Amino acid sequence: MNTPETSKEQHRRSQYKAVWAALSDTHDRAKLSVTGTAEEAQLLASGAASLVALQQTIGIHPGDVVLEVGCGVGRVGRHVAPLCQQWIGCDVSANMLRFAAERLRDLPNVELREISGYHLQGVADASCDVVYCTVVFMHLESWDRYNYVLEAARVLRPGGRLYVDNVNLCSDEGWAVFEAHRRFPPDARPPHITECSTPQELETYLKRAGFAEIQSRVEGLFVRVWGHKPKGNPDDH
Ligand SMILES: C[S@@+](CC[C@H](N)C(=O)[O-])C[C@H]1O[C@@H](n2cnc3c(N)ncnc32)[C@H](O)[C@@H]1O
Repeated sequence: MNTPETSKEQHRRSQYKAVWAALSDTHDRAKLSVTGTAEEAQLLASGAASLVALQQTIGIHPGDVVLEVGCGVGRVGRHVAPLCQQWIGCDVSANMLRFAAERLRDLPNVELREISGYHLQGVADASCDVVYCTVVFMHLESWDRYNYVLEAARVLRPGGRLYVDNVNLCSDEGWAVFEAHRRFPPDARPPHITECSTPQELETYLKRAGFAEIQSRVEGLFVRVWGHKPKGNPDDH
């Protein structure tokens, strides 16, 4: 979400692998790119706050296989993995995954996967109970946000839960981010700067991908949207 400098060579936003390799070339830069701090204590505190958001929306249960899209250095995984059966962290950046492996090496149920930036390739159909994606959609083009919602629908078991979030364009805090980034001249916009979502955008993705009982919550800067994959029972819709 933060905007440290990328390399001199400017990549397009959708060249996620190159963009995020440049933003995570050292452990401190990777941590800064994730939350704007390289301080381990602050990273731990913000990860704990993200866990609260997950617990209040989709919940994390001991038998769950949980997959995070765009896991970064494992800021959230550090808190989720001890509460579930298996935690799978997927990220486009091999650097991020290397640092995540270091930070989570004491957790036995962690699996890390490098992905293309557009799909959850290699993750089997109907193999997960929870998919979540936090502080990532703001860096993606809208089509790729939806691609990941579709991929979540594929890898979740019937009844499985999906959570996504973004900076909320409709809030005062989100609008301030929009205005701040509008000041970049068009040809000097960093490829990873935040692009906000409206609640309706995220709700539409979940609806179009077939999720049921879609709910959303706006909280300050953020909009959070979640739902579950129908069990095939008409009462689920
Ligand atoms: C701001 S960080 C958030 C990391 C983590 N979700 C957290 O909350 O701590 C954004 C993460 O998304 C990853 N990312 C960016 N584009 C991606 C894409 N297209 N597919 C998967 N991961 C991506 C980056 O490498 C980075 O680790």
